[in-house]
Amino acid sequence: MGSTQSDDLGPDLAKGISIKNMPDGHMLLGQVDKDGVLLARRGDEIFAIDATCSHYGGPLAQGLMVEDTVRCPWHHACFSLRTGEALRAPALNPVACWSVERRDDMVFVRQRKKPPEPKSDLGAATAAGSPKKIVIVGGGAAGFAAAEKLRREQWQGSIVMLSDDDAAPVDRPNLSKDYLAGSAPEDWIPLRPDSYYAENAIELRLAANVTDIDARAQQIALANGDRIPYDRLLLATGAEPVRLAIPGAELSHVRVLRSLADCRAIIKIATTARQAVVLGASFIGLEVAAALRARKIEVHVVAPEKRPMERILGPQMGDFVRALHEEHGVVFHLEDTATAIEENQVRLKSGKTLTADVVVAGIGVRPRTQLAEKAGIVLDRGVLVDRYLKTNVPGIFAAGDIARWPDPHGGDNIRVEHWVVAERQGKTAAINMLGGREPFAAVPFFWSQHYDVPINYVGHAERWDDLTIEGDIAAKDCLLSYKREGRVLAVASIGRDLDSLKAELAMEEKVI
Ligand SMILES: Cc1cc2nc3c(=O)[nH]c(=O)nc-3n(C[C@H](O)[C@H](O)[C@H](O)COP(=O)(O)OP(=O)(O)OC[C@H]3O[C@@H](n4cnc5c(N)ncnc54)[C@H](O)[C@@H]3O)c2cc1C
Ligand code: FES
Repeated sequence: MGSTQSDDLGPDLAKGISIKNMPDGHMLLGQVDKDGVLLARRGDEIFAIDATCSHYGGPLAQGLMVEDTVRCPWHHACFSLRTGEALRAPALNPVACWSVERRDDMVFVRQRKKPPEPKSDLGAATAAGSPKKIVIVGGGAAGFAAAEKLRREQWQGSIVMLSDDDAAPVDRPNLSKDYLAGSAPEDWIPLRPDSYYAENAIELRLAANVTDIDARAQQIALANGDRIPYDRLLLATGAEPVRLAIPGAELSHVRVLRSLADCRAIIKIATTARQAVVLGASFIGLEVAAALRARKIEVHVVAPEKRPMERILGPQMGDFVRALHEEHGVVFHLEDTATAIEENQVRLKSGKTLTADVVVAGIGVRPRTQLAEKAGIVLDRGVLVDRYLKTNVPGIFAAGDIARWPDPHGGDNIRVEHWVVAERQGKTAAINMLGGREPFAAVPFFWSQHYDVPINYVGHAERWDDLTIEGDIAAKDCLLSYKREGRVLAVASIGRDLDSLKAELAMEEKVI
């Protein structure tokens, strides 16, 4: 997290700035009464909006202007320069617009404007054959984004959102980062305050386990026997952690991390723990390792691979990530696996024994496709959807970690487990459930944070035949391009946020 400090802010825009300092396409950070303001010029138009992203406070002036929008350098949210509206996840809230006055060749920024009245993008598209009742199964990124979009579209029908979690939708990525490290206040975690759901007529039912779908009768069934009818159904059931299948896996100090409750359970043990063993050297496992190091717990990471994250990021980045964690005191046991867990120790295949007061298994996740399967929906290592996120069963859509969709950029059907993708799919599914025809065409994006090092990744490369590295990974200033047959499929970066945004834009323009 971070925000722009007033003394870092540029010129006083209330006093005016010469238009000569603002060539077409230029963005400039300034201030009005110590509030950061981003000034941007497009042709003859000058826009002024708040300078910090409404997600985690990213510095928008260091982002990328694309037509009349600006993209945040940190996690690729996008805002309208015209209205301040949050056009792309992960931002949920708009940023304020400021009034701009031009006199001769001077531009003055006056005051914050009142937010515009929300309006529907869909208009007449929703009127004909519009559903009356939408049921969303899942209270995570995709389910929440869908519900929110439905209400932003001013849709008046009934929304029932069911989640078998006890907590209302949370900022899940934070659970392996600041919140687990103990540096995020409680109020960062809910995506919206509890009152939001009633205020927006979203019937949120927590601890509600959906057990069946009767696609013919257009009803879902809950474990408690309730049945709920729908006109459109969104499946956004996400993924669940793979459980360990070794002796001792059921012990109370052996945990996985998906939900807020999982996170709190780890924190509870971590407050008295001195040594942790993390099983798995993937994103979640290593973020957990970093968070536990922030709590001064000794951390050992055990994983079968030769290098952490090599499969996704390649060997060079894998070596860097390993070295970074070692600098922070993490001890790796690679090319090794746990064979048994006891009260205070973990036994490894190599014969080693590690002391552990807490064990966190981050050994992968599985899409929760059981419901879809029961409903006769076509599966392909996930729920298969078309470009509109529709399944093969009429009226049923799917989004988020469970959905495998035709990626127009790489040409394959892909399924990813990224926060931003799930949110963007939820939004697209909402539009299409209302009768819109918006293909899902976003370029996948994810970020991961290790200590003070964020890694950003755009695109999707399951396999590559060439990996080029610009800059210096060890200096935390690099851009890695994953290519197949000369084509860039994905780009990972550290400290090169603008390049990452440009790579995303270039990929967006290439559609197969
Ligand atoms: C700790 C952690 C850290 C992460 N960090 C990052 C990150 O830094 N960057 C990134 O890009 N991604 C990250 N991810 C991945 C990201 O959180 C997921 O991709 C995203 O949450 C997927 O959204 P979703 O809506 O598909 O599923 P989820 O957010 O998992 O939501 C699924 C919902 O469905 C509910 N559900 C499932 N089955 C049923 C049922 N039968 N009945 C009722 N409810 C049901 C669940 O309770 C849950 O509410 C992280 C994930 C975790 C766990
Ligand atoms: S801080 Fe801007 S997208 Fe996260």
